[in-house]
Amino acid sequence: MTVEELKLAFVGFGAVAQGCAGHLVRNEQYLQQAYGLRYKVVSISDPVKGSLQNKNEGINLQQALERMKERRRLEGLKGKPGLSSIESIETSDADVMIEATLTNLENGQPGLSHIVCALEAGMDVATSNKGPIALHFKRLHDLAKSKRRYLRFESTVMSGTPVLNMNEFCLAGAKINALRGILNGTTNYILTEMATGRNYSEALKLAQELGYAEADPSGDVEAYDPAAKITILVNAVMGAELNLSDVEREGITRIGIEDLEKAAKDSKRIKLIASASRDEKDRVKASVKPTLVPETDTLAQVSGVMNALQISMDSQPDVTVIGPGAGADSAGYGLLSDILTIHRLRVMEKRGQ
Ligand SMILES: NC(=O)c1ccc[n+]([C@@H]2O[C@H](COP(=O)([O-])OP(=O)(O)OC[C@H]3O[C@@H](n4cnc5c(N)ncnc54)[C@H](OP(=O)(O)O)[C@@H]3O)[C@@H](O)[C@H]2O)c1
Repeated sequence: MTVEELKLAFVGFGAVAQGCAGHLVRNEQYLQQAYGLRYKVVSISDPVKGSLQNKNEGINLQQALERMKERRRLEGLKGKPGLSSIESIETSDADVMIEATLTNLENGQPGLSHIVCALEAGMDVATSNKGPIALHFKRLHDLAKSKRRYLRFESTVMSGTPVLNMNEFCLAGAKINALRGILNGTTNYILTEMATGRNYSEALKLAQELGYAEADPSGDVEAYDPAAKITILVNAVMGAELNLSDVEREGITRIGIEDLEKAAKDSKRIKLIASASRDEKDRVKASVKPTLVPETDTLAQVSGVMNALQISMDSQPDVTVIGPGAGADSAGYGLLSDILTIHRLRVMEKRGQ
């Protein structure tokens, strides 16, 4: 097998980027033998973890990860320090920019600028950052297309559980008419705990102690996060042009134990369901709201931090995907799968296929 080298630039080197880096280090030989992918990390930029560029030899990724474990900045390693994230992209000569900075659902920054900068410079992009994709999908998709570059974002929805790539590749040719799923692990965990008799505050506190919920949980419990994910899904796999603000959104803060008890008596569960459907005029509508689901429904069985997505299409009965929706290893794997997709597409491009 011909081996092709891919030069990678990380922007944002937090939990998810490190998860991806860990997979790259552990699977270095396997990636080369099985997929013909050899990688070289030419730059890493993060305000807290450090900024380093080494275009000739590449950054030693294992050493970079060791420094992260020791809570030391990257700058002691071999390479040029001190570049800002934008400078690091512009000067990296990378093939793929891996964007894993924090999600901002107000304006998509700083990820938006990073992605635009990389595409403008002729790089492919793999990102786990929901903000730019949920808010600016069409702009970024069109930019990537005009530059003939690839923009992949598998881990923005259900982390490393394949839903975007599955729709694009495995369900190619099937017209998606509806989507229905549990796209937020934190709220699913809270609702699962509440179904066992804990009240909302106790369940939230437990989720925070276990690292499933942030100190400010509003992005999850007010359903902004799953609203962003269903927006990404409908635009990417249903061909819609929906804004995040078009999604009808209701969180779980008004649900009490009595609601869950009543649901249980009726053989039902309450789940935060994100859904989207296409009408006869091809218009797509989406919502996220607490929904009564019969116990016999597959989605009722999805508990704790697990996520699920049911896909209804014109060509065969529904397909449901269930898997982890968060976690550094899982989201890091989503990035790795994007890097491999980009690698495959680039190899085909080179062969003129
Ligand atoms: N964690 C998950 O399970 C998961 C799953 C799917 C998707 N995601 C998404 O993946 C992304 C990364 O998540 P994470 O959990 O890895 O978050 P994280 O640990 O907070 O890492 C984000 C990193 O980006 C850095 N950063 C902020 N602004 C930057 C800039 N201008 N240039 C370069 N780096 C910058 C942050 O530095 P500071 O500390 O200084 O802010 C931080 O080190 C987020 O968009 C998240 O929504 C996460």
